[in-house]
Amino acid sequence: MPSQLVDGFGRRINYVRLSVTDRCDFRCVYCMAENMQFLPHSQVLTLEEIHDVAAAFTELGVERIRLTGGEPLVRRNVLSLIERLGQLPAELSLTTNGSQLHKMAGDLAAFGVDRLNISLDSLQQDRFRELTRTDRLQQVLDGIEAARSAGFKRIKLNTVVLKGRNDDEVIDLIEFARRSELDISFIEEMPLGQITEHGRAESFCSSDELRERISDHFELSPSTERTGGPSRYYRLADSQTRVGFISPHSHNFCGDCNRVRVTVEGRLLLCLGNEHSVDLREVIRTYPDDPERLQQAIIDSMAIKPEKHEFNLEEEPQILRFMNMTGG
Ligand code: GTP
Ligand code: 5AD
Ligand code: SF4
Repeated sequence: MPSQLVDGFGRRINYVRLSVTDRCDFRCVYCMAENMQFLPHSQVLTLEEIHDVAAAFTELGVERIRLTGGEPLVRRNVLSLIERLGQLPAELSLTTNGSQLHKMAGDLAAFGVDRLNISLDSLQQDRFRELTRTDRLQQVLDGIEAARSAGFKRIKLNTVVLKGRNDDEVIDLIEFARRSELDISFIEEMPLGQITEHGRAESFCSSDELRERISDHFELSPSTERTGGPSRYYRLADSQTRVGFISPHSHNFCGDCNRVRVTVEGRLLLCLGNEHSVDLREVIRTYPDDPERLQQAIIDSMAIKPEKHEFNLEEEPQILRFMNMTGG
């Protein structure tokens, strides 16, 4: 059944990103302030409510669910949710910082997670510590190994590239991805939340610049493959590895947008770079036994999905919510 969700610009929405927690065991400099205040439990959807939201989307024909955070795997009992979501008629994927994978990769694969995206911003201890404000590089590398053995359909690494901090590491990261037979995406930083540690305009590193630099070392051929996401892929010669670029600033991809996201407070956000939203928690808690109300609220939300984000690196961020509130 094709998704019944079509927005005012004719875009069919067949993908939902569900944030299962705003909490995280890392404090990545582009994502969070160092002293984050997290949400009180009363404001957070229960695992049951998250399941009901996911089920409402699949009832409407949505075919892809991605779990995000914060760090989704630090939510207590998240595996019990994942086991249930694995039974819905949708592809299930998860974006993680990798810190818990050495313990959980096997269960995730067994419970039906198809695709895994793992953040990896540096292979160097000191830089990893500066970028994530943790000391867990080895734990993440062990997690990547555990994931490789666990039998996922696809694993992708994600690197947010910041000029002067890790942009000179892209060749090493591609070598690592190639050796490990994984895909990798390089991401332009998006201005969500007020951070003080670096200037976003000064740190900006465009995908075109990176691609040129990479082409001096590797043969990249454009690939028509799309995963339904914003990444534009290139194939690395003589390898299975795909190198992707997520370029919200230099190559806007909003025209093809197929997704919406739900925060852990149950706020259905129609676009990562805008505040248009519908309060699904209110609907669920007012009509707990009426799944049709929830579905109708989701259908009605399509009318307010904005055309595109308006990120501007030169100005103060217009979106004050940090990335951990939405999971990207
Ligand atoms: P798939 O589409 O499921 O293959 O994964 P993905 O690469 O889109 O998801 P992932 O969670 O790995 O996110 C990678 C980067 O893409 C993060 O920086 C996200 O914030 C960004 N991203 C994902 N979806 C959107 C979107 O709709 N708009 C914008 N601007 N960025 C997005
Ligand atoms: N801009 C771009 N990507 C970001 N991520 C977190 N914060 C930002 C940001 N400000 C990435 C993480 C993770 C994915 C969910 O989003 O590195 O890979
Ligand atoms: Fe945590 Fe991911 Fe944000 Fe890093 S980017 S602080 S790992 S939620």
